[in-house]
Amino acid sequence: MLKIAVMVSGGGTNLQAIIDAISTHALKNVAIDCVISNKADAYALKRAEDNGIDSVCIRPRDYPDKDAYGRYLASFLKERGTDLVVLAGFLVVLPECFIDEFENRIINIHPSLIPSFCGDGFYGLKVHEAALARGVKVTGATVHYVDSGCDTGPIILQKAVYVEEGDTPETLQKRVMQQAEWIILPQAIQMIADRREK
Ligand code: GRF
Repeated sequence: MLKIAVMVSGGGTNLQAIIDAISTHALKNVAIDCVISNKADAYALKRAEDNGIDSVCIRPRDYPDKDAYGRYLASFLKERGTDLVVLAGFLVVLPECFIDEFENRIINIHPSLIPSFCGDGFYGLKVHEAALARGVKVTGATVHYVDSGCDTGPIILQKAVYVEEGDTPETLQKRVMQQAEWIILPQAIQMIADRREK
């Protein structure tokens, strides 16, 4: 059984996609051990609670600096025996001390086809605003391993989504979530779970 911790900052629709995939057995041999948010009011925490999943808010401001925050997070997750850390809309840049503790065991979902529209400052709606401003006809989502860079780790899965006439950042974001993110994130977790079983 792959024990995962999901780190969130917002609405938690990607977390919900993982919860639903597990409950429908589309996603096998995976268990969400806990959900961590940096924001106490993240709706994702309610999704966890509603599904009987341990959840906790661990805020950077409660630690003297980013490294102390990263060290605490790493110790918390190691204590719980976490196998894989899933960043699902987690908006805090994790320090190297955390990345090093979970080398090749942290994945992230990004709402574009990396290397387009990624890196510093590209998150949430800003990604889709940039895609529309550039006039791309196709965008999508990427699941990648997290390394010490920003959206620079090895790519695991990608899924393309057409931009439609009249799209706004909001309509495009929704389509990318529905047609790409919520599909490839559980798929990527399954790939990792299957590899681990071998
Ligand atoms: C998603 O668009 C994801 O790609 C990005 O942040 C957003 C999180 O949405 N990393 P949600 O909290 O999963 O609904």
